[in-house]
Amino acid sequence: MFQFMTSTRIIFGEGALERSLSVLNQFGYSVLLVSGKNLQRSALVIDYLNHQNMRYQHVAIRGEPNITMVEEVALVGRKFKPDMVVAIGGGSVLDMGKALAAVIPNQGDVYDYVEVVGRNVPLKAKPIPFIAIPTTASTGSEVTRNAVLRSGQDRVKVSLRSPEMLADVAIVDPRLTYGTDTQTSARGAMDAFTHLMEAYVCGEPNPLTDMICEEGLRKLSGAIIKGCLEDDPQARSDLSFAAMLGGMAMTNAKLGAAHGLASALGGKLHAPHSIITAQLAPYVMQENIRAATLAGRDDILNRYEKLAQILTGRVNAHRDDGILWVNMMLDKLPLPKLNSFGVCSTSFESVAQDALKSVAIKGNPIPLTIQRLMYILDQVCQCDGECQQGEQLESSSKADIIHQGYRQDEGRLQSSE
Ligand SMILES: [Fe+2]
Repeated sequence: MFQFMTSTRIIFGEGALERSLSVLNQFGYSVLLVSGKNLQRSALVIDYLNHQNMRYQHVAIRGEPNITMVEEVALVGRKFKPDMVVAIGGGSVLDMGKALAAVIPNQGDVYDYVEVVGRNVPLKAKPIPFIAIPTTASTGSEVTRNAVLRSGQDRVKVSLRSPEMLADVAIVDPRLTYGTDTQTSARGAMDAFTHLMEAYVCGEPNPLTDMICEEGLRKLSGAIIKGCLEDDPQARSDLSFAAMLGGMAMTNAKLGAAHGLASALGGKLHAPHSIITAQLAPYVMQENIRAATLAGRDDILNRYEKLAQILTGRVNAHRDDGILWVNMMLDKLPLPKLNSFGVCSTSFESVAQDALKSVAIKGNPIPLTIQRLMYILDQVCQCDGECQQGEQLESSSKADIIHQGYRQDEGRLQSSE
């Protein structure tokens, strides 16, 4: 038995945004618009809202969202009473929008609803309609049911999760990813890869997620270099598609140790999630293959072999060739190493302990001990004695209420703040 859930409606293709904005009108006339700091990305949506005389409040976020940010913006959002949340941006922006759509109609503290460090109680009220418009090919957040939030007090990343949080509409327009800088593109593509890879080898796959992962991995492996390094339109489109499939796969199968360790490390370091998962991926693959070999788990080893065949395009590829493929991508793409974020200044033992409490690690194809998780961290660190202190890299995650628009019939027009 298995079940499958995804966003209610997906609109995919070049030019999809321009051609489908009228879909917003079916949800009402007031919009909480969430974007990243690059306001150009949301210009098309703002033009549409102005043209339609829709009431909107615009929140621009910088960095990855944390629970305090969600609480602060939700207070503003509750006063504004939006009919819908529209989020246009990368994975962080989409997660922020998704969290706001869930939290605004629900009373109480965000900690009431988050897993691991919170009370994890189900949402009482249904989230308000949520429209997700990704501008990167990365997290697949447009089709996932969770928002990843940093908990500052616990120094971990946790999820606010509910099937009710799936977007009402996902508008995936690969054109929005054109021209994205190489490093952002590479980080996103490798995070999408890790979703597809972990969901494919996880302990609870199903026939539908297998099909999705195989197609996603095929598309991604064929497009990753041309899309990230050459900004090739067809490759960009394939990466957007693969990233969306990654989101579908992880929502309906499980993830694994790379994401488990990333949720623990991500709260302690200010390294982007995508860089952490990308750098962990080959070491986790190696460790899982080792553990499966020792345990005589041919079912897991066969999965890694199939994975290697898809990634390399060679029918005779060996399971270790998959690891070689990932390392080749990490060499070709401009991704920073984890030690540039101060990874050595964290305690591997507490990271491994936190990772074992994560939801993601429960999906790993085979259980890994705390010692083996610490071994992975040691390998990925590859300390050269020059690790920077994480504290010095404290990023400034921030949410700014930057602009409010009003319906003309309310007598106030686009007041800027
Ligand atoms: Fe991820």
